[in-house]
Amino acid sequence: MISSERIPNNVGLSSDKRLQRALDHWHPKFLQWWRDMGPQGFQDSHQVYLRTATSVDPRGWAHFEYVKLPDYRWGIFLAEPVADRRIGFGQFKGRPVWQEVPGEFRTPLRRLIVTQGDTEPASVEQQRLLGQSCPSLYDLRNLFQVNVEEGRHLWAMVFLLHSYFGRDGRDEAEELLERHSGHRDKPRMLEAFNTPVETWLDLFAFTMFTDRDGKSQLLSLSESALDPLSRTTRFMLTEESHHLFVGDTGIGRIIERTCQLMKQSGFSEDVRRLGGIDLPMIQRHVNFWFSQSLDLHGSEVSSNAATYFTNGLKGRAEEGKHQDDHVLADAVYLLGAVDETGRPRPREVPLRNALNEALRDWYEKDCLHSVERWNTKIASHGIDFRIALPDRKFHRHIGTFAGRRFDPSGRPLAAEEWERRRHEWLPSSADTAYLKSLQAAAVYEPGRFANYIAPPLRGINQRPIDFEYVRTEE
Ligand SMILES: [Fe+2]
Ligand SMILES: [Fe+2]
Repeated sequence: MISSERIPNNVGLSSDKRLQRALDHWHPKFLQWWRDMGPQGFQDSHQVYLRTATSVDPRGWAHFEYVKLPDYRWGIFLAEPVADRRIGFGQFKGRPVWQEVPGEFRTPLRRLIVTQGDTEPASVEQQRLLGQSCPSLYDLRNLFQVNVEEGRHLWAMVFLLHSYFGRDGRDEAEELLERHSGHRDKPRMLEAFNTPVETWLDLFAFTMFTDRDGKSQLLSLSESALDPLSRTTRFMLTEESHHLFVGDTGIGRIIERTCQLMKQSGFSEDVRRLGGIDLPMIQRHVNFWFSQSLDLHGSEVSSNAATYFTNGLKGRAEEGKHQDDHVLADAVYLLGAVDETGRPRPREVPLRNALNEALRDWYEKDCLHSVERWNTKIASHGIDFRIALPDRKFHRHIGTFAGRRFDPSGRPLAAEEWERRRHEWLPSSADTAYLKSLQAAAVYEPGRFANYIAPPLRGINQRPIDFEYVRTEE
């Protein structure tokens, strides 16, 4: 029988027989999945200095210790309830939030939870081989921290499915372990989660851009009228910020090192001779992962998004900060569409139908803060180069720009020019091969860093940078 000791939680697991029974069945399958599909080569052989959430108060969720990965205590946490919380938007605005799932919204709520839940284990699968090529013990530890927390986010969604969706929910929870990233017959639900993450530059771009889509989605779900969903996602957001930190600072540290190498070589742009990653290569990875993550926000015009909002299931990011009536019965949005020739032809649509695009606005702004920090760093080295986010139309596979071709500035291109020049803008197999050659020799010595990345400014949990963040089991 599953115990509260093994599963730290604040959901009353020890007195909830139904949830215990469901988890008794699911837990062994999760552990098997973790062994098969989680970090390869580090399961029982290593101790990792990890943060484990043991409660939701700040001291409890920042508890650090050495653990073997399969012994990590994945827990179930809801953020503290907000007294007298009211629905903040849509047609039920002002009414008390729901503690149970209303029958008429069962299907869309289940779909929202399953879609979110599917991304969590997917990213663990995508990143499972990276430990074998890490640039330092510090980075290895951060990778595993992200992985165990994505595992916990899966638990969070499975808790909702088990507790509020009966038999269907239990079936969905099983299927979350049966689909696999990139699998031919049973792939993950969203495309960005079927793309392998094989290099550390891809990992940093993934945690910077794709985990940030996770933040967009979690922020909008945390507005939900379904209070358990709101509280679950609010706690997930506290963990998500570390994932974004890993991505933002990871790319920043590669940029820092690249600039140092450029200076060493008399401002030559050919840092590859010195074993570095050139800035245009970083730009190509930004282009790829940013555009993939834009797709994750869905079609510009979406009746699903409108229904979710109207019924209070999913709000906007930071709903409370919007200076409008939060009902949006008549509000309009000016959508940046194009005509047949690719020329801009904006058109007005009801805002309720354009909420995916509005969330993309929020997302792009959030990305820009990091990009500006990187550019300040590059400029501080006296180097004339700027990282830029590509235009929203670039390399899209979902929505009105899907199947059309634009360069990163948004200029429409003929098929022939796109084919000829696409690898100026997107990573090529030669780029990946070069990055793999750089990371071929993993660095496992405390305090040492691969040549292509600068050390961080400080260590984790006030430990020194040369702390042994991962050690072999004695
Ligand atoms: Fe997550
Ligand atoms: Fe994440």
